[in-house]
Amino acid sequence: MRPLPKYDLVSIDDLTLPEIERIFVLADEFAAALERGERLKLADGLIMATLFYEPSTRTRLSFESAMHRMGGSVISSADMQASSAAKGESLADTVRVVGSYADLIVVRHPRDGAARVAAEYAPCPVFNAGDGSREHPSQTLCDLYILRRRKGRLKGLTVAICGDLKFGRTVHSLIYALARFGANIVTVPQAGMEVPEYVLERIAVERNYRFSNVSMNELSSLAGKGSLDALYLTPRAPHQMALFTSDLLLNNLPAGQAPASLDAFYVTRLQRERLPDKQADPGTYVHFDARALKGSRTQSAVVMHPLPRTDELAYELDADPRAAYFEQAAAGIPVRMALIGWLLEHAARGERRVPNAAATPRFRPQPGLRCANANCITRHESTYLTPRFTLARSTDPSRLRLRCDHCERELGAEFVGHVRTRRFYRFDEHMRSYVRQWIEESSLAVFESVKQAEENGYEPYRRGPQREIMNSTEIGRALETLAEQVIADLADPAGLIIAGIVSHGAMIAARLRDLIVARTGVLPQALTLDVYSASDPIRTEGGEEIDVTDRTIVLVDDVINTGWTVQRAMAILWQHGRPAAVKLAVLIDRGHRAIPIRANYVGKNIPTSRSERVQVRLDPHPDGRRKSSDRVVIYSILESMKESAATQ
Ligand code: NCD
Repeated sequence: MRPLPKYDLVSIDDLTLPEIERIFVLADEFAAALERGERLKLADGLIMATLFYEPSTRTRLSFESAMHRMGGSVISSADMQASSAAKGESLADTVRVVGSYADLIVVRHPRDGAARVAAEYAPCPVFNAGDGSREHPSQTLCDLYILRRRKGRLKGLTVAICGDLKFGRTVHSLIYALARFGANIVTVPQAGMEVPEYVLERIAVERNYRFSNVSMNELSSLAGKGSLDALYLTPRAPHQMALFTSDLLLNNLPAGQAPASLDAFYVTRLQRERLPDKQADPGTYVHFDARALKGSRTQSAVVMHPLPRTDELAYELDADPRAAYFEQAAAGIPVRMALIGWLLEHAARGERRVPNAAATPRFRPQPGLRCANANCITRHESTYLTPRFTLARSTDPSRLRLRCDHCERELGAEFVGHVRTRRFYRFDEHMRSYVRQWIEESSLAVFESVKQAEENGYEPYRRGPQREIMNSTEIGRALETLAEQVIADLADPAGLIIAGIVSHGAMIAARLRDLIVARTGVLPQALTLDVYSASDPIRTEGGEEIDVTDRTIVLVDDVINTGWTVQRAMAILWQHGRPAAVKLAVLIDRGHRAIPIRANYVGKNIPTSRSERVQVRLDPHPDGRRKSSDRVVIYSILESMKESAATQ
């Protein structure tokens, strides 16, 4: 048998509409063959590996059953905790290895973008069986297959999607597909669980498709004046009855397409495991019961659910002929057989996927800018994955918007730099064409702040003359002032943690710690915080476990600018317990901050204007014998091309 072509299914958009149609034809054929009780041998000799890093019943078992039904075999790691992942093996290494044991890999993973990584590193095709809250394309194939079987078509159908639309990955793949098939979507999200911006943006940019959100609150406020043709979505609390009026539906659909009725409800469970606080009360969640199907406009609506259900779908609906969810689950066999069959068809023709030459240019920013999404795979497997971005469309031309290639979340960046000249600029619309060029030349660096640019050795594009405002003696005195303030304020020096922000904050913290030991005889614990590091943002000297609970922390930085660095450092600290107090010590306070943060201990106040920059330059190896090179300088910066052109 020829090897399977490397056709990965990471997103539902990896399949064209004719390919989806072909898969449905194959699914019909397989369903008929199964009905006839035929024993198939099509996949004889093929091995499929299922790697599930998250629980699954339907998806894994139906993929495996589909392969068995086609005469192929399966190797499985249903619980990746029992595999080398528990020993810390990376996803990339795992799929590389498993790809040499199997012809096809099906992977489910809790991180957003993990399936993309698996597809890139595996030598064989990879099917995404759910990656974090991003996508679940094979579930969508089952959903569409049943929806079309029930309704006879997909184009022009009106589908209401209810529940957790933020973390529900089946919802995202379904939305992308319905938008392409020309169906109307009405979303009824749980409050706070709306369809994420990046999903809306993708269908708006790529498909010129928009739909409106109908919040549960809007629905409730319409109660009373709604028509009799109302759909009730009843939250669990009895007094909070929500009403979904036909007027509302008509008003929210694209002009000329107002349907006389709703064709389907796609109900989803709350993805509790993806909530930052898994115990949090999400508020009243939708509860879908028989009453929802009573109105004349909902008479012929089918009720769908990817399953498993929790509390959102009443068992009383199971006997209703409009309930389609068990059919969706059963479709897992013929549809997943069809996916394998579709690969086999291409293999038989000896095809290889042709790389898309017109693909959007992707770039790895230098130095390592991290993705803003804490659940992005690049944040969790950062030892070998560098985040990769594309330029995103932005409504504000003065902001540079980057989209993470792995999880699609967007990130705003204010400063851009050129790798070879080591200059940085404030981004404005004039820079867009330069940025494109630099991406093509792999010379774009992106920074969230001036400080980050400086930390990476970048200089402003142009700057005014530089003036020394503190010499090494003055810096020494300011440090002593700081140490005295900290000590005077301290009830118990033994419980103290000095946490320095990389790089200059950490250097100052080390000196401050020496001064505190010299004066009190007690050595405070030292921590180093690197707000730009995705993999290793907090460190101790000895690499021991960090628990800041009930400790007093003095957070140290060189200059307080916007306050942004401090804010991020606090967030990192909070991941390691609840401290008794966090105090901020800065060598220099220059005013102007964007975030209301005030330092508790200040070495020196230096009022500056907004365009001025205060830079602390510290001797990395002070030895007391030679003259120290410590100094603080001030200069004005002309960050943008436009600004400097105006002054030339
Ligand atoms: C879904 C999933 O895992 O995303 N389950 C499935 O595959 N049918 C939906 C869910 O877990 O809520």
